[in-house]
Amino acid sequence: MPLRGRPAALLPLCLLCLQAALPLRGHRGRYAGDKVIRVVPESKRETQILRAAFNRLKVDLWQPSSPFHIVEGTVTDVRVPQNTSRSLLPYLQQADIAYTILISDLQKAIENQTGSRTYRNRRSLSEYNYEVYHSLEEIQGWMYHLNKTHSDLVHMFSVGKSYEGRPLLVLKLGKRSRPYKKAVWMDCGIHAREWIGPAFCQWFVKEALQMYQIDPAMRKMLTQLYFYVMPVFNVDGYHFSWTNDRFWRKTRSKNARFRCHGVDANRNWKVKWCDEGASFHPCDDTYCGPFPESEPEVKAVAHFLRKHRKQIKAYLSFHAYAQMLLYPYSYKYATIPNFSCVESAAYNAVNALQSAHGVRYRYGPASSTLYVSSGSSMDWAYKNGIPYAFAFELRDTGHFGFLLPETLIKPTCTETMLAVKNITLHLLKKCH
Ligand SMILES: *[C@@H]1O[C@H](CO)[C@@H](O)[C@H](O)[C@H]1NC(C)=O
Ligand SMILES: *[C@@H]1O[C@H](CO)[C@@H](O)[C@H](O)[C@H]1NC(C)=O
Ligand SMILES: *[C@@H]1O[C@H](CO)[C@@H](O)[C@H](O)[C@H]1NC(C)=O
Ligand SMILES: *[C@@H]1O[C@H](CO)[C@@H](O)[C@H](O)[C@H]1NC(C)=O
Ligand SMILES: [Zn+2]
Repeated sequence: MPLRGRPAALLPLCLLCLQAALPLRGHRGRYAGDKVIRVVPESKRETQILRAAFNRLKVDLWQPSSPFHIVEGTVTDVRVPQNTSRSLLPYLQQADIAYTILISDLQKAIENQTGSRTYRNRRSLSEYNYEVYHSLEEIQGWMYHLNKTHSDLVHMFSVGKSYEGRPLLVLKLGKRSRPYKKAVWMDCGIHAREWIGPAFCQWFVKEALQMYQIDPAMRKMLTQLYFYVMPVFNVDGYHFSWTNDRFWRKTRSKNARFRCHGVDANRNWKVKWCDEGASFHPCDDTYCGPFPESEPEVKAVAHFLRKHRKQIKAYLSFHAYAQMLLYPYSYKYATIPNFSCVESAAYNAVNALQSAHGVRYRYGPASSTLYVSSGSSMDWAYKNGIPYAFAFELRDTGHFGFLLPETLIKPTCTETMLAVKNITLHLLKKCH
């Protein structure tokens, strides 16, 4: 792979000596011996070395999502394949760059999680277990079941088909009490490996249906609003993350000229498409696609949101991990008009979230709080007239990363529920 940016000669170390891993590694499991390490670059020099090394090695960045986003003073978590770590770790030591090992054997960490899963009861749909991760088949079966058993509050429909032909299912929740109601859109699982997202969307639906009878606030929400909930946005990618590659992020579309599959479904929207913070290269994890809305999943949801943009007052998208509540803009450092209403909604929401278990989320514009990225769904929703657009980055901050244990599903969802309710109730009041 050619180097982008500065030539290696400017670096004090032998960047070209770094060896990328060979793709296939025997029968011991795809991630045997892989590590997840954390580096916090402390100077321009360190930032540059890391960008160049990670770009050359094509390592899997967990946080941020591409080498260009690596900045001084911020956390960089990266999955390093076993072969690569043999050259990368000495290289970092030689460069005097400190790192810590977050996960020392990723395959073992995965097996720790899936191992415990075999002991769980496979319960019937009527006593569905919301404290485990569910496969796509299980989630879709659950959705069909709710559509049948809760027809008073639930209506399921499909907004289109995925690249591999799966239905893109959405649950519409709410009492059909009057012809016109405002609505809230929620999607989970735009990025396949962020499994806590779909688990939260399912949790939200469960709470809505259970609490409707007993919680006046929930009753008010479902009476005065509709919720469109899409538990798994990137259905093909999510399925692939269960069957083939636990850390798959993108969609599964094929590219005519490259062997790499998939597009980043959160860089494919028609808003400053493929500008800063997105990649034109099909093998990158932040690949923006050949053109905006090239992905059938993005196109279908964009079409639905466009058609209902007068009705939809809030767009909420659930990602992981970082523990942040983000609002526009992603693609530039600028303050949105009506900033104070959105900002106060975010401020109250993170306080409500913290009241559950003391977990403090950072909040602010995505560009300055996380990093600059173009073509995101949140910016697109905002630009298309949805005044409250938020992206959640759920737990944790990197201890387990994408392998958040199932024991943390309940606390994560309970606290997030408070934030979502708080934002929703805020919508029902006028903000000045
Ligand atoms: C294994 O999973 C449990 C929770 O399910 C967690 O507490 C523990 O830290 C995990 N161990 C490793 C090595 O990941
Ligand atoms: C959900 O249920 C309704 C009413 O029973 C039915 O018309 C509709 O087709 C169902 N949705 C899907 C996607 O199957
Ligand atoms: C939202 O959260 C804030 C901060 O915890 C709280 O003061 C406010 O009452 C909450 N609003 C609602 C409607 O729950
Ligand atoms: C800002 O608020 C005003 C007044 O409530 C409203 O008319 C306008 O559409 C809002 N603008 C945006 C971008 O949300
Ligand atoms: Zn994500």
